[in-house]
Amino acid sequence: METHTQEEVSQWVSLITYYKFALDEMDTKLTILNEEFQHVHDHNPIEHLKSRVKSMESIQRKLERKGLEVTAEHAEQHIHDIAGVRVTCSFESDIYKLVNILCNQDDVHVQEVKDYIQHPKSNGYKSLHLIVQVPVFLSTEKKLMNVEIQIRTVAMDFWASLEHKIYYKFDKTVPKHLTDELKEAADLANYLDKKMEGIRTKMDKYKESAPL
Ligand code: GTP
Ligand code: MG
Repeated sequence: METHTQEEVSQWVSLITYYKFALDEMDTKLTILNEEFQHVHDHNPIEHLKSRVKSMESIQRKLERKGLEVTAEHAEQHIHDIAGVRVTCSFESDIYKLVNILCNQDDVHVQEVKDYIQHPKSNGYKSLHLIVQVPVFLSTEKKLMNVEIQIRTVAMDFWASLEHKIYYKFDKTVPKHLTDELKEAADLANYLDKKMEGIRTKMDKYKESAPL
């Protein structure tokens, strides 16, 4: 059993608390945008918002995988998804609208963008991943904290959660016939997204020409 000094424990507790504050801020930003969209664009783009701070065990495992000593300092420097938000939207176009608005806020600093929607992974995974920094104002300092944001449609999320379960069920070596079927399901999810987007565009045009 590893022993930690009082000082080390206190550093970890502070770090986890700062990430929690950063998530609270991000939740507020996203909730405000969601409600404001209602006024400007006449609908709420966010179906679901979920945030979490990574568990100590996962942080520890990730540092060990990277060959780093398990310290709060290393965690803050090398692990960028300690604070994570997952946003599910109804429509693909809303994802980009929301991200553009969020990233243009002057206290949101974009560190990394991985667009698996424009460039899906070979297994079919689609999602937009961002690492952003937001300031957390403490009593004696301002700290910039990393937050990972994963944004996807409901259909992409449905696919990803099943794929995740299968991946772990088969201990990361999924049989070929299942990976083929998953790829097919990803294509269907993509088809559904495009279809829904098309219906919405038509509905918007109809509303413009014949307002209630
Ligand atoms: P890690 O953060 O160590 O996972 O590596 P990374 O930063 O290179 O990963 P990336 O940004 O590509 O993905 C981060 C997270 O996205 C993962 O922890 C998963 O939650 C999710 N993700 C990425 N690829 C897949 C995938 O193929 N299937 C599913 N279900 N989720 C994925
Ligand atoms: Mg990551």
